[in-house]
Amino acid sequence: MARASTVHLCSECGHTEPRWHGRCAGCGAWNTLVEEHPPQSGAGRPGRAQRRAGQAAPAAQPRALAEVEPPPIARLGTGIGELDRVLGGGLVPGSLVLLGGSPGIGKSTLTNMALGHLQAAGRRTLYVSGEESADQVRLRAERLGAGALSVPVVAETDVAVVAATLEAERPEVCVIDSVQTLHEAGLGSAPGSVGQVREVCLRLMELAKASACAVILVGHVTKDGSLAGPRALEHLVDCVLQFEGERERTHRILRALKNRFGSTNDVGVFEMRDGGLVEVLDASARFVAEAAHAPGSVVLAAMEGSRPLLVEVQALVAASELVPPRRVVTGLDRNRLALVLAVLARHGGVALGSSDVFVNVVGGVRLDEPGADLAVALAVAGAARGQPLTAGSPGEPRPVACFGELGLTGELRSVAHPDRRVAEAGRFGLAPVLCPAGGPRAEAPARGRRAPAGNEGTIELSSLRAALSTALPGRATPSRAARAA
Ligand code: TYD
Ligand code: MG
Repeated sequence: MARASTVHLCSECGHTEPRWHGRCAGCGAWNTLVEEHPPQSGAGRPGRAQRRAGQAAPAAQPRALAEVEPPPIARLGTGIGELDRVLGGGLVPGSLVLLGGSPGIGKSTLTNMALGHLQAAGRRTLYVSGEESADQVRLRAERLGAGALSVPVVAETDVAVVAATLEAERPEVCVIDSVQTLHEAGLGSAPGSVGQVREVCLRLMELAKASACAVILVGHVTKDGSLAGPRALEHLVDCVLQFEGERERTHRILRALKNRFGSTNDVGVFEMRDGGLVEVLDASARFVAEAAHAPGSVVLAAMEGSRPLLVEVQALVAASELVPPRRVVTGLDRNRLALVLAVLARHGGVALGSSDVFVNVVGGVRLDEPGADLAVALAVAGAARGQPLTAGSPGEPRPVACFGELGLTGELRSVAHPDRRVAEAGRFGLAPVLCPAGGPRAEAPARGRRAPAGNEGTIELSSLRAALSTALPGRATPSRAARAA
């Protein structure tokens, strides 16, 4: 008896097996194989069925790269400066952009606003909503203004219908919200499954390339923060953008994880307001204005991509009744906090084995750089001691700025772009900045020192211990136990 043939596809690495296994032989992940029905002949993209039937596909003609006409990259400005910057200067016609983010972060708002601006600028656009009905999309657009209301919308989940609509309407920019809700009828599996998402993406990619339509695919992220569906999607698209932030807070950060047409260093900062997303052009100003000169607070001169950004890091240390005590961290990697606490205990004489430690990056910003170590260490030490930090100017209470990576032996290590970090802190009168030795001078001679009037530049430090005795003067030298060890 002929059985319908199925394959089992790993959702992590795309490895296929004829039979189900608990563990993927390709990447070793557990419970990731899902059953998929390959498209029946006739279904799917044209050409596949013939190929499966044994007909040879026509050979492609290779050309020397020098003979390939460099395509004139005319980018489409989305009217949202921060988005254009992250894209590398605007949308490239024919490109596929994957925009990921957790539910409620503002993906639909951002894409709807972008299409609104494009439509108002005379471009043909199309908004395909698989998640919401047309009237739900309208409700959002009403908050975003006249431009957003002029965007043509279809509420559709069948990719064949979407493809036909794209061919008929020939938009220059199209948003698919979301790629997980679209399905290919020829495949037996449910929308959002590995095979479906990949098939939908491939189909849209062919259309995008053929009609030079820029397609933005909205995608959900899973609880652990990675893009749901197959990782394979990230390889197919030209650009992967991640929209981050906490839903309860108003700040959102847009970053490029992959960009074939630009750098992945740029980030965009937005604020969610009543009338949609507003670009935050000077995020540092806002965060510094909110920073408190209180025990457990410090300003970190961070880099967000290629942009310096001042953010406040706060810590709270409290006696614990739990074993092991709590370690709660927002906006930072938990393991990084564990490392900083271990270095603080071993080399800084601040042992917190019986205390709960809470660390928070204010404003919903997520930091992903080693330069945050010193700020975390100083905030925690200040909180443990109940003493505000100072940067060598007693009697003038103001936030202290710092940056630097902690080594496992308690040394302070230099990080990228020290001069730009110092200059950014200088713009807000946060000087001197506590930083690793040999920092700014190595890159640009003492640029930080020349910044604004009254800026004493930097205090260069070689170790965590030196940083603690500078920022928390009068603090007892590291405990005898720590020194003896
Ligand atoms: P949405 O774009 O629907 O998020 P996503 O598509 O990523 O799931 O909107 C997210 C939230 O933003 C929603 O809870 C309502 C809020 N919001 C505003 O605060 N102001 C606005 O102008 C709009 C349109 C939405
Ligand atoms: Mg949405």
